[in-house]
Amino acid sequence: MHSFKELSAQFEQRFSQRQFPQSPANLYDPAQYILGIGGKRIRPVLCLLGNELFDELHPDAFEAASAIELFHNFTLIHDDIMDKAPLRRGQPTVHTKYSEPAAILAGDVMLIYSYEHLNKINSKVRQKLVGVFNKAAREVCEGQQLDMDMEQQSPEQVQYTDYVNMIALKTSVLLAASLQMGAIIGGGSEGNQQHLYEFGKNVGIAFQIQDDYLDAFGDPEKFGKQPGGDILVNKKTFLLLKALELCNPAQKAELHRLMAGNPSDKVARILQIFHECRVDEWAEKEKERFCASAYKHLDEIAVVSGRKQHLRELADFLLTRQH
Ligand code: IPE
Ligand code: IPE
Ligand code: MG
Ligand code: MG
Ligand code: MG
Repeated sequence: MHSFKELSAQFEQRFSQRQFPQSPANLYDPAQYILGIGGKRIRPVLCLLGNELFDELHPDAFEAASAIELFHNFTLIHDDIMDKAPLRRGQPTVHTKYSEPAAILAGDVMLIYSYEHLNKINSKVRQKLVGVFNKAAREVCEGQQLDMDMEQQSPEQVQYTDYVNMIALKTSVLLAASLQMGAIIGGGSEGNQQHLYEFGKNVGIAFQIQDDYLDAFGDPEKFGKQPGGDILVNKKTFLLLKALELCNPAQKAELHRLMAGNPSDKVARILQIFHECRVDEWAEKEKERFCASAYKHLDEIAVVSGRKQHLRELADFLLTRQH
């Protein structure tokens, strides 16, 4: 059994080798660029941990992990276009450094390379893995569309349960699928796979709550993204939904006025109202709630408790992360 640190080093050693041909450079350089500017490599490590929960690490898990990390980076490139984001991992986003057409196409080709990795997997488990991967990939698209739809809706039209459903799709299903794919390779039973998937899904929801919290309150130096990016594009995060529920009529009117336009003090003023309504405290409670559900599923997995230790540590890190 290996720790997050050990597994991410093992993964990085393989993954840091160039993934793409040299030419045409205008297609592959942007793809190599996003892989080279960092990233926590959480999803590939989840896949390796899912494998190690049940058996020795198998080479197939590294192929699945590479497929997942390529897919994740592809979604980030396209997400940054959709979210009009200038910064990613403390560096210019792909579409700002290159161009939007180059970013779209680099993302597309990365998706193809994901499937190249899946295609190298042992035929006994390949079909099942591709099924789990495709379901998650489809759901990420659904979540991303819901996220954009909600940008256009007034906050009163969006319920908190809609927000949770949206973040489960855009973010947490991929974390869950990464674990399940590892479990399939490790030979985990169907029941154990499902509990591991649900563990990942609940941790993933708390992970996105932390992401939304950091987008507003994080230290921009550490977080590596534009501060207040979600506020600028009127994302319906839990911060906004909860603030509207807790604020007084004057604050409510101001939130609406700020969202209707793009005044230069929009981020600063909305952040102040978030502070006044103490929505940050609410984030802690929600993360704990989803974390408790996650741990219930982890407890149900029929392997000795000691084997689950690294998963517990990773979950704790994800929910307190600052970047
Ligand atoms: C960013 O994911 C996108 C979200 C789902 C919040 P990560 O925080 O895992 O991004 P990197 O890969 O470590 O940069
Ligand atoms: C992104 O959610 C989820 C996917 C990339 C699919 P966000 O839009 O919040 O992610 P960041 O904050 O840009 O990393
Ligand atoms: Mg987004
Ligand atoms: Mg984004
Ligand atoms: Mg975000």
